[in-house]
Amino acid sequence: MTATAQKLGFIGLGIMGAPMAQHLMAAGHTVFVNTRGQVPADIAASKATVCASAAEVALSELDVPYIAAHPLEFQSIEQWGDSTRGLLPVENTIMVAIPELDGSILPMVYGGRPGPAGETCHGCDKRCTFPSGPRSQDMFTCSERTEMLTARVERLVRLRDKPRADRKLAIVLFNFPPNAGSVGTAAYLSVFQSLFNTLQRLSLEGYQVTLPDSVDDLRNRLLHGNASQYGTQANVLHAIDTGHHVKHERWLNEIEAQWGPAPGKHLTNGQSIFVLGAAFGQVVVTVQPGFGYEGDPMRLLFETGCAPTHAFSAFYRYLRDDYAADAVLHFGTHGALEFMPGKQTGLSAQCWPDRLIGALPNVYLYAANHPSEGALAKRRGAATLVSYLTPSLTHSGLYKELVSLQQSIERWQQMGPDQAQDRDSLTTLIREQAQSIDLSVPADQAADPTAWIEQLQNQLLELEYALIPEGLHVMGQAPTREQRLGTLKVMADAMGLTGAQNASLMEALVDGASEVQLNKQFSTELPAGDKAQAETLRQLVRSNRLLGEDHEMQGLMRALDGRYLQPAPGGDLIRNANVLPTGRNLHGLDPFRMPSAFAVRDGMRQADKLLARYQQDHQALPETVAMVLWGTDNLKTEGSPMAQALALMGAAPRFDSYGRLAGAQLIPLAELGRPRIDVVITLSGIFRDLLPMQIRLLAEAAFLAASADEPVEQNFVRQHALAYLAEHEGSNMECAALRVFGNTEGAYGANVNHLIDSSCWDNENELGDAFTQRKGFAYGREGRPVRNTSVLQSALASVSLTYQNLDSVELGVTSIDTYFDTLGGISRAVLQAKHQRDGNAAEAPPVFIGDQTQGEGVVRSLTEQVALETRSRMLNPKWHESMLQHGYEGVRQIEAHLTNTMGWSATTGQVQPWVYQQLAQTFVLDPAMRERMAQLNPTASAKVANRLLEATRRQYWQPDAETMTALLRAGEELEDRLEGIQEGLPA
Ligand code: BEZ
Ligand code: MG
Repeated sequence: MTATAQKLGFIGLGIMGAPMAQHLMAAGHTVFVNTRGQVPADIAASKATVCASAAEVALSELDVPYIAAHPLEFQSIEQWGDSTRGLLPVENTIMVAIPELDGSILPMVYGGRPGPAGETCHGCDKRCTFPSGPRSQDMFTCSERTEMLTARVERLVRLRDKPRADRKLAIVLFNFPPNAGSVGTAAYLSVFQSLFNTLQRLSLEGYQVTLPDSVDDLRNRLLHGNASQYGTQANVLHAIDTGHHVKHERWLNEIEAQWGPAPGKHLTNGQSIFVLGAAFGQVVVTVQPGFGYEGDPMRLLFETGCAPTHAFSAFYRYLRDDYAADAVLHFGTHGALEFMPGKQTGLSAQCWPDRLIGALPNVYLYAANHPSEGALAKRRGAATLVSYLTPSLTHSGLYKELVSLQQSIERWQQMGPDQAQDRDSLTTLIREQAQSIDLSVPADQAADPTAWIEQLQNQLLELEYALIPEGLHVMGQAPTREQRLGTLKVMADAMGLTGAQNASLMEALVDGASEVQLNKQFSTELPAGDKAQAETLRQLVRSNRLLGEDHEMQGLMRALDGRYLQPAPGGDLIRNANVLPTGRNLHGLDPFRMPSAFAVRDGMRQADKLLARYQQDHQALPETVAMVLWGTDNLKTEGSPMAQALALMGAAPRFDSYGRLAGAQLIPLAELGRPRIDVVITLSGIFRDLLPMQIRLLAEAAFLAASADEPVEQNFVRQHALAYLAEHEGSNMECAALRVFGNTEGAYGANVNHLIDSSCWDNENELGDAFTQRKGFAYGREGRPVRNTSVLQSALASVSLTYQNLDSVELGVTSIDTYFDTLGGISRAVLQAKHQRDGNAAEAPPVFIGDQTQGEGVVRSLTEQVALETRSRMLNPKWHESMLQHGYEGVRQIEAHLTNTMGWSATTGQVQPWVYQQLAQTFVLDPAMRERMAQLNPTASAKVANRLLEATRRQYWQPDAETMTALLRAGEELEDRLEGIQEGLPA
């Protein structure tokens, strides 16, 4: 390793690496150690912010990758080897999360304190023996990890040295859920257009690429080609002979133990394993195989001792060894590699992501607003992330019947008292217009129209100004002037620029005016000397410039050259202009500083809003809130959602004298001014991986609240904990106060989404059961998960409402399947717990969404949120046309939104039937639209019809006979067309 370090000129060793660095330097090597490596670990965190930009500057000058390799400090190497978690929370923070702020990659454990003399190290299959005698306490180097680190450094050096024309590159597309309609899909990304642009750019930069003629040509060669000959979902690039697989598969026994004899059942004809993809000169574009469990694809992730399929392992071995790529490029957010079984962080040779990627340099295009899952790709998949922009934002606007309704309302409001008769007939028209598009109006014809018409108008306003993403992002294509203008307006609004509503100011900004020019020209809108305004303006001018430049392709080329890629915070552009320029290596936040002071204030405000909304509907405070916490939302908001959970309990974080998170504290009841609300928190697997200190913070807050000597009517946490103790003899407060639940280590998700997608379920109770099965692990003050269904069931039965925050415009509750997986899943689990306690008369809890995408935020019921999203997105031509512009992927997006909508029906029953009626009308019963979608993506469009039919079967919607007949006929037609294609017949 030392020789390569010398050749590379640099290897960053992070805070714990100082001894190794000294050793290398003593041997005469050139070594760069992160500035933080020179401060003792215990104060390193407090220096983090101070050093960050200095480190970035120094690293940029060196322009070599900064590898964060570390010996373990807080556990022995044997403990690490045996654990499913890997790094301890403190190690994860200091050795991984903080160096990432400077752009570090490849976080790796290479040694640590040895276990007892004579015992073997459990980190790999080499089983080295710990030394005895005087050296038994020295740092022990794991030979396998050191070899892997060396190999990784060597591969980076080789990549840097190799001329581009000689490099072989493997691009990996995804196919999730695995079916023909979703090959090549990634969050927010127009994959085929982006891929086409990337191939062109690679060719320009000197790679040997045989360019496809067009995007359609590219898509056809990948999706069709020889696919019908092999019966596969895409062209077969290469067939791996089973004999070859058996001979070269290092972990064959493990794979066969789970999946049966080679070649297994996936991507095979019994003789060979297929690698899907197509070659374009020295660049191959491939399709990642699926997880392997149809209907339960994530099962791999929660059963310990699991292995990927033959096809999955063979795929990466093919890329590494047979094709012998110099680098792999994972194309968009996100694939399955980094979710394969193994430790959470600090991976060993036993962990599948580490085995599969090996030493192959891994570059990963990743959505800029997804720092949390991006961190997993970086930490578990050894990836360098290259961020890409999310789609431009725009206001939903009104369309079709909504426009005519608005006109009627405006006319109605302009009528004077002398026009009573006209006004009455217009009232009737407004009533009919509203009813025809399922907007609610009072049934009572005699009700005073002023109030309900005003309410209707407010609803239209909300709809008109709802923010929606416009289409998909294209790599290598800067937003148009109009798109830039839309985004800058939203940013200016969100930042509170006083001139945000001034059209000429915004036009001047987008046309490139400087701050000085803007100040001069719009002096009345832009108060002189206002520092905050000046900063906002500076940010907007900078954002406009950066949005117009290409940084993504540049960043990609840089990463593929094995150079240093600057770090960038992940987040939403409208909240944090520093996500620009994209094309940089995403990172999260300094975990010692979460939740921030800003988040604590915001959390208190959002908690008050939620309580006010519940009180408005129920005239009482909720006793228990079931709240879902994700990693992403917390990383993007400095921890607002977790601070909101604390605020509900009447708690706050406590910091030490260095400003580092040290635990929880209670806010005195007198100061709080209301009872402490009980909170059942369920964490995403990603939150668990990224924010271990915050798990302990939340658990401590619940414990402190439950233990506080306070009247129980002022403290629902204590009330419920005492009731639990009274019912469960032999239990203790530590157990009764457990309020933080999630998956066990190494597992993600509730699996409700996969059940819904595959339609593999009969009764809604199966969905609630899947949720409690997967999320039934309690995290106490120690932060370790222990299954505890008893406390979970008891806490769920007391839940008054379920709740989750929504913080990205790009991700509505109907855009991705994970909102209904988590919030829908827990809502169903609450109903079942109530049934168990109170019998079948128990009612489903109301479900609320804290929409914080705009302004101060607003709390909506799930029904309201789904209605708003359906009208502003799916039914809105501005949204669906912008999706359909991306063809195949656009249809897939529409299908996904519909499936997610049905996920909400299944888990909560709180979707109104008109949603399905109107979606059916728009996408299936309109012959022109049906034909168009079927042309673009036959699989996904058949799925749309089938999903609507499924919704009728499950009674979420009961269309009239005529609609039903038309839907059945359309469904059959789409299925026939699909069969025609699959049999290679003309469609
Ligand atoms: C998370 O960041 O925790 C998360 C992101 C996407 C889906 C589910 C959870
Ligand atoms: Mg995901």
